Amino acid sequence: MNVVLFGPPGAGKGTQAKELSQKYDIPHISTGDILRANVREGTELGLKAKEYMDKGELVPDQVLIGLIKDRLEEPDCANGYLLDGYPRTIPQADALDDILKEISKPLDVVVNIDVSDEELIGRLSGRRMCKCGESYHIMFNSPKEEGVCNACGGQLYQRDDDREDVIRQRLVVYSEKTKPLIDYYEEKELLVNIAGNGTVNEVFEAISEIMDRYK
Ligand code: AP5
Ligand code: MG
Ligand code: ZN
Repeated sequence: MNVVLFGPPGAGKGTQAKELSQKYDIPHISTGDILRANVREGTELGLKAKEYMDKGELVPDQVLIGLIKDRLEEPDCANGYLLDGYPRTIPQADALDDILKEISKPLDVVVNIDVSDEELIGRLSGRRMCKCGESYHIMFNSPKEEGVCNACGGQLYQRDDDREDVIRQRLVVYSEKTKPLIDYYEEKELLVNIAGNGTVNEVFEAISEIMDRYK
Protein backbone atom coordinates (compact mmCIF):
# COMPACT_ATOMS: atom_id res chain seq x y z
CA MET A 1 0.00 0.00 0.00
CA ASN A 2 1.52 3.29 -1.14
CA VAL A 3 0.15 6.26 0.75
CA VAL A 4 0.82 9.96 1.28
CA LEU A 5 -0.56 11.39 4.52
CA PHE A 6 -1.09 15.04 3.71
CA GLY A 7 -2.08 18.03 5.82
CA PRO A 8 -0.97 21.27 7.43
CA PRO A 9 1.46 21.52 10.36
CA GLY A 10 -0.28 20.07 13.42
CA ALA A 11 -2.92 18.17 11.45
CA GLY A 12 -1.93 14.95 13.21
CA LYS A 13 0.14 13.35 10.43
CA GLY A 14 2.81 12.04 12.79
CA THR A 15 0.34 10.90 15.47
CA GLN A 16 -1.70 8.94 12.92
CA ALA A 17 1.22 7.64 10.85
CA LYS A 18 2.84 6.01 13.87
CA GLU A 19 -0.28 3.89 14.54
CA LEU A 20 -1.10 3.27 10.87
CA SER A 21 2.43 2.07 10.16
CA GLN A 22 1.96 -0.63 12.82
CA LYS A 23 -1.53 -1.58 11.73
CA TYR A 24 -0.65 -1.94 8.03
CA ASP A 25 2.98 -2.97 8.49
CA ILE A 26 4.49 -0.36 6.18
CA PRO A 27 7.27 2.07 7.14
CA HIS A 28 6.39 5.57 8.35
CA ILE A 29 8.62 7.97 6.44
CA SER A 30 8.58 11.44 7.97
CA THR A 31 10.93 13.88 6.28
CA GLY A 32 10.66 16.16 9.33
CA ASP A 33 11.81 13.31 11.62
CA ILE A 34 14.70 12.46 9.26
CA LEU A 35 15.80 16.09 9.18
CA ARG A 36 15.55 16.46 12.97
CA ALA A 37 17.64 13.30 13.45
CA ASN A 38 20.29 14.90 11.22
CA VAL A 39 20.13 18.12 13.24
CA ARG A 40 20.64 16.14 16.48
CA GLU A 41 23.57 14.22 15.02
CA GLY A 42 25.11 17.43 13.65
CA THR A 43 25.50 16.11 10.10
CA GLU A 44 26.18 18.46 7.21
CA LEU A 45 22.55 18.02 6.07
CA GLY A 46 21.33 18.73 9.61
CA LEU A 47 23.34 21.94 9.91
CA LYS A 48 21.99 23.20 6.60
CA ALA A 49 18.38 22.14 7.30
CA LYS A 50 18.27 23.72 10.77
CA GLU A 51 18.64 27.23 9.34
CA TYR A 52 15.39 26.79 7.43
CA MET A 53 13.49 24.74 10.00
CA ASP A 54 14.03 27.21 12.85
CA LYS A 55 12.49 29.96 10.72
CA GLY A 56 9.53 27.84 9.65
CA GLU A 57 10.73 27.80 6.03
CA LEU A 58 11.01 24.80 3.73
CA VAL A 59 14.37 23.13 3.21
CA PRO A 60 15.32 23.41 -0.52
CA ASP A 61 13.63 20.95 -2.87
CA GLN A 62 16.84 19.38 -4.21
CA VAL A 63 17.88 18.33 -0.69
CA LEU A 64 14.51 16.70 -0.01
CA ILE A 65 14.25 15.00 -3.38
CA GLY A 66 17.62 13.28 -2.91
CA LEU A 67 16.70 12.29 0.62
CA ILE A 68 13.33 10.76 -0.27
CA LYS A 69 14.73 8.91 -3.28
CA ASP A 70 17.34 7.19 -1.11
CA ARG A 71 14.75 6.35 1.54
CA LEU A 72 12.19 4.87 -0.87
CA GLU A 73 14.84 2.62 -2.39
CA GLU A 74 15.45 0.91 0.96
CA PRO A 75 14.26 -2.70 1.23
CA ASP A 76 11.66 -2.04 3.94
CA CYS A 77 9.58 -0.16 1.33
CA ALA A 78 9.07 -3.34 -0.70
CA ASN A 79 5.44 -3.70 0.48
CA GLY A 80 4.65 -0.02 0.52
CA TYR A 81 5.23 3.18 2.42
CA LEU A 82 3.44 5.87 4.36
CA LEU A 83 4.82 9.32 3.56
CA ASP A 84 4.41 12.10 6.15
CA GLY A 85 5.59 15.63 5.30
CA TYR A 86 6.59 14.89 1.71
CA PRO A 87 5.81 16.18 -0.88
CA ARG A 88 5.39 19.82 0.14
CA THR A 89 5.85 21.64 -3.18
CA ILE A 90 4.88 20.97 -6.80
CA PRO A 91 8.51 20.25 -7.81
CA GLN A 92 8.73 17.71 -4.96
CA ALA A 93 5.52 16.05 -6.15
CA ASP A 94 6.76 15.93 -9.77
CA ALA A 95 10.06 14.42 -8.62
CA LEU A 96 8.18 11.87 -6.50
CA ASP A 97 6.18 10.86 -9.54
CA ASP A 98 9.42 10.18 -11.47
CA ILE A 99 10.99 8.26 -8.58
CA LEU A 100 7.88 6.10 -8.11
CA LYS A 101 7.75 5.30 -11.82
CA GLU A 102 11.38 4.26 -11.68
CA ILE A 103 10.84 1.90 -8.74
CA SER A 104 7.35 0.79 -9.92
CA LYS A 105 5.56 1.76 -6.71
CA PRO A 106 2.90 4.27 -7.79
CA LEU A 107 0.76 6.05 -5.23
CA ASP A 108 -2.55 4.44 -4.26
CA VAL A 109 -3.98 7.39 -2.38
CA VAL A 110 -3.25 10.81 -0.86
CA VAL A 111 -5.18 11.29 2.40
CA ASN A 112 -5.69 14.96 3.22
CA ILE A 113 -6.30 15.58 6.94
CA ASP A 114 -8.35 18.75 7.05
CA VAL A 115 -8.09 20.82 10.27
CA SER A 116 -9.01 24.47 10.96
CA ASP A 117 -6.26 27.04 11.63
CA GLU A 118 -7.32 27.81 15.23
CA GLU A 119 -7.18 24.13 16.08
CA LEU A 120 -3.73 23.79 14.46
CA ILE A 121 -2.23 26.59 16.53
CA GLY A 122 -3.60 25.06 19.75
CA ARG A 123 -2.26 21.61 18.85
CA LEU A 124 1.23 22.83 17.94
CA SER A 125 1.72 25.21 20.85
CA GLY A 126 0.71 22.46 23.31
CA ARG A 127 2.78 19.67 21.75
CA ARG A 128 5.57 18.12 23.81
CA MET A 129 8.14 15.66 22.46
CA CYS A 130 10.38 12.96 23.89
CA LYS A 131 13.71 11.96 22.41
CA CYS A 132 12.44 8.35 22.20
CA GLY A 133 9.99 9.51 19.50
CA GLU A 134 6.81 9.74 21.61
CA SER A 135 4.75 12.89 21.23
CA TYR A 136 2.22 14.37 23.67
CA HIS A 137 -0.10 17.33 24.08
CA ILE A 138 -0.47 19.23 27.34
CA MET A 139 -4.28 19.10 27.08
CA PHE A 140 -5.33 16.51 24.48
CA ASN A 141 -2.80 13.78 25.20
CA SER A 142 -1.02 14.55 28.44
CA PRO A 143 1.56 12.22 29.99
CA LYS A 144 0.75 10.54 33.34
CA GLU A 145 3.31 12.73 35.06
CA GLU A 146 3.75 16.30 33.84
CA GLY A 147 6.83 16.74 31.66
CA VAL A 148 7.79 13.05 31.81
CA CYS A 149 7.47 10.47 29.00
CA ASN A 150 5.14 7.52 29.77
CA ALA A 151 7.17 5.21 27.53
CA CYS A 152 10.77 5.85 28.67
CA GLY A 153 10.70 8.28 31.64
CA GLY A 154 12.60 10.87 29.58
CA GLN A 155 12.10 14.59 30.02
CA LEU A 156 9.69 16.15 27.53
CA TYR A 157 10.65 19.21 25.51
CA GLN A 158 9.11 21.56 22.97
CA ARG A 159 10.18 21.43 19.31
CA ASP A 160 12.23 24.51 18.32
CA ASP A 161 9.70 25.36 15.62
CA ASP A 162 6.67 25.12 17.94
CA ARG A 163 7.08 28.73 19.14
CA GLU A 164 4.08 30.87 18.25
CA ASP A 165 5.87 33.12 15.71
CA VAL A 166 7.41 30.12 13.91
CA ILE A 167 4.06 28.26 13.95
CA ARG A 168 2.42 31.21 12.15
CA GLN A 169 5.18 31.26 9.54
CA ARG A 170 4.82 27.49 8.97
CA LEU A 171 1.11 27.98 8.35
CA VAL A 172 1.82 30.77 5.83
CA VAL A 173 4.37 28.58 4.03
CA TYR A 174 1.84 25.73 4.02
CA SER A 175 -0.82 27.93 2.38
CA GLU A 176 1.52 29.30 -0.25
CA LYS A 177 3.66 26.32 -1.20
CA THR A 178 2.01 23.11 -0.01
CA LYS A 179 -1.74 23.65 -0.21
CA PRO A 180 -1.67 23.81 -4.05
CA LEU A 181 -0.89 20.08 -3.95
CA ILE A 182 -4.52 19.46 -2.97
CA ASP A 183 -5.61 20.49 -6.48
CA TYR A 184 -2.59 18.73 -7.97
CA TYR A 185 -3.62 15.37 -6.48
CA GLU A 186 -7.32 16.00 -7.03
CA GLU A 187 -6.60 16.30 -10.76
CA LYS A 188 -4.76 13.00 -10.63
CA GLU A 189 -7.80 11.49 -8.84
CA LEU A 190 -5.67 10.41 -5.91
CA LEU A 191 -6.99 12.75 -3.20
CA VAL A 192 -9.35 11.76 -0.39
CA ASN A 193 -10.31 14.39 2.22
CA ILE A 194 -11.03 13.44 5.80
CA ALA A 195 -12.21 15.61 8.69
CA GLY A 196 -9.25 16.02 11.07
CA ASN A 197 -10.94 18.01 13.85
CA GLY A 198 -12.20 14.90 15.68
CA THR A 199 -10.39 12.90 18.35
CA VAL A 200 -7.23 10.93 17.56
CA ASN A 201 -9.32 7.73 17.46
CA GLU A 202 -12.00 9.17 15.20
CA VAL A 203 -9.40 10.34 12.71
CA PHE A 204 -7.63 6.98 12.91
CA GLU A 205 -10.86 5.14 12.07
CA ALA A 206 -11.56 7.47 9.14
CA ILE A 207 -8.09 6.95 7.64
CA SER A 208 -8.20 3.18 8.26
CA GLU A 209 -11.46 2.96 6.35
CA ILE A 210 -9.76 4.53 3.34
CA MET A 211 -6.56 2.49 3.62
CA ASP A 212 -8.54 -0.75 3.89
CA ARG A 213 -9.58 -0.23 0.27
CA TYR A 214 -5.97 -0.66 -0.84
CA LYS A 215 -4.91 -3.66 1.30
P1 AP5 B 1 7.47 18.38 9.89
O1 AP5 B 1 8.14 17.71 10.99
O2 AP5 B 1 6.93 17.60 8.76
O3 AP5 B 1 6.37 19.31 10.52
P2 AP5 B 1 4.92 19.77 10.02
O4 AP5 B 1 4.47 19.40 8.66
O5 AP5 B 1 4.94 21.22 10.31
O6 AP5 B 1 3.96 18.94 10.84
P3 AP5 B 1 4.03 18.61 12.35
O7 AP5 B 1 4.97 17.49 12.59
O8 AP5 B 1 4.23 19.86 13.12
O9 AP5 B 1 2.51 18.18 12.59
P4 AP5 B 1 1.82 16.75 12.45
O10 AP5 B 1 0.77 16.84 11.39
O11 AP5 B 1 2.79 15.64 12.37
O12 AP5 B 1 1.05 16.72 13.85
P5 AP5 B 1 1.24 15.79 15.16
O13 AP5 B 1 0.75 14.43 14.88
O14 AP5 B 1 2.60 15.95 15.72
O15 AP5 B 1 8.46 19.46 9.24
C1 AP5 B 1 9.22 20.33 10.06
C2 AP5 B 1 10.13 21.20 9.19
O16 AP5 B 1 11.04 20.36 8.46
C3 AP5 B 1 9.42 22.02 8.10
O17 AP5 B 1 8.94 23.25 8.60
C4 AP5 B 1 10.55 22.19 7.09
O18 AP5 B 1 11.45 23.19 7.49
C5 AP5 B 1 11.27 20.86 7.14
N1 AP5 B 1 10.72 19.89 6.18
C6 AP5 B 1 10.14 18.67 6.46
N2 AP5 B 1 9.73 18.07 5.34
C7 AP5 B 1 10.06 18.91 4.31
C8 AP5 B 1 9.87 18.86 2.90
N3 AP5 B 1 9.26 17.81 2.33
N4 AP5 B 1 10.33 19.90 2.17
C9 AP5 B 1 10.95 20.95 2.72
N5 AP5 B 1 11.16 21.07 4.06
C10 AP5 B 1 10.71 20.06 4.84
O19 AP5 B 1 0.18 16.50 16.13
C11 AP5 B 1 0.39 17.81 16.64
C12 AP5 B 1 -0.10 17.90 18.09
O20 AP5 B 1 -1.51 17.72 18.12
C13 AP5 B 1 0.46 16.82 19.04
O21 AP5 B 1 0.67 17.39 20.29
C14 AP5 B 1 -0.63 15.76 19.09
O22 AP5 B 1 -0.64 15.07 20.35
C15 AP5 B 1 -1.88 16.60 18.93
N6 AP5 B 1 -2.94 15.90 18.18
C16 AP5 B 1 -2.81 15.12 17.08
N7 AP5 B 1 -4.02 14.68 16.64
C17 AP5 B 1 -4.94 15.24 17.48
C18 AP5 B 1 -6.38 15.17 17.56
N8 AP5 B 1 -7.11 14.47 16.66
N9 AP5 B 1 -6.98 15.86 18.55
C19 AP5 B 1 -6.25 16.59 19.44
N10 AP5 B 1 -4.91 16.67 19.42
C20 AP5 B 1 -4.25 16.02 18.46
MG1 MG C 1 4.89 15.52 12.27
ZN1 ZN D 1 10.22 8.81 25.76
